[in-house]
Amino acid sequence: MSDFEMTRTLDEHAAESALRADVLHGLTRTPKVLPPKWFYDARGSELFEEITRLPEYYPTRAEREILLERAQEIASASGARTLVELGSGSSEKTRHLIEAMPALDTYIPVDVSESALAGAAGKLLEEHPGLRVHALLADFTRAMRLPESPGPRLVVFLGGTIGNLLPPERAQFLASVREMLSPGDTLLIGTDLVKDEAVLVAAYDDAQGVTAEFNKNVLAVIDRELGADFHTADFTHVAVWNREREWIEMRLRARSDAVVKIRALDLVVPFAAGEEILTEVSAKFRQEGVRRELAAAGLELTQWWTDAAGRFALSLSVAGREAG
Ligand code: SAH
Ligand code: AVI
Repeated sequence: MSDFEMTRTLDEHAAESALRADVLHGLTRTPKVLPPKWFYDARGSELFEEITRLPEYYPTRAEREILLERAQEIASASGARTLVELGSGSSEKTRHLIEAMPALDTYIPVDVSESALAGAAGKLLEEHPGLRVHALLADFTRAMRLPESPGPRLVVFLGGTIGNLLPPERAQFLASVREMLSPGDTLLIGTDLVKDEAVLVAAYDDAQGVTAEFNKNVLAVIDRELGADFHTADFTHVAVWNREREWIEMRLRARSDAVVKIRALDLVVPFAAGEEILTEVSAKFRQEGVRRELAAAGLELTQWWTDAAGRFALSLSVAGREAG
């Protein structure tokens, strides 16, 4: 039976020291902030999958609709023999692309969640025993070396995860993706689109409380990994639409005055009642903004597809003639 390879660019030590640095920096500043990548331990990855099935959380269904309709077009436009997926998670939607690419040689899922990578790679290999699957446990915001594989490559970044990066991080990320592309390679990015505030807020504050549990999971990660004594019940989940920045903010709000000890950092973090930690932004986009951001990174938008209801977009781009 064929098996997948896994390259770990993040060992446990590196991941823990990155978490320590982010927690120290984020919880000793005002307002307090934590990067969203720390949601995704095994439980966080499971919770995200549960979110994708919620009635209020439309992005996954909308993006799947576009992929089902456009997979063939994307496959022929790219002519790819290698598919690289950043933030691949369960790779659930990606299978529609893989099925449309019979000449695909290698699939390289890249994620910080080892459980998600292993689950997705194993399942894909069962379905496509001839496909070479080389999983990369890596942080896509940092420099990474992709395994050797035949070109051309199609790099995909689905789910709207690009919206979880702040604008300067996005600019840097897109510039580094541009560097990854050789002539003939293509880039496919999923972006959630600006829409009615009530629809957006419901998607991030569902009736069953799954998103609240996902949000609070970051505290459980810090408790476990850094010996902290956060009690998730002391915090409430908050989702607000920031109209000016056109992004959803997920926050955790302290129910009362509290003091949290973080043993691994020898740190005591005071919270005033009502004080919040910003745990995630989820930016929503418009076509012109996407085109502009791609162009600023030296990428040229060549195709723009939305679902029938115009909620979500997939954009295909290629390296432009010149960066900047
Ligand atoms: N692409 C999938 C999953 C989206 S959830 C989908 O569309 O459904 C976001 C995924 O990105 C998670 O699997 C998470 O572990 C991963 N992720 C978040 N930040 C990351 C980072 N900095 N580097 C690598 N993976 C990251
Ligand atoms: C992964 N990412 C695109 C999700 C989003 O919609 O921003 C993460 C998420 N946060 C809350 N619900 C889902």
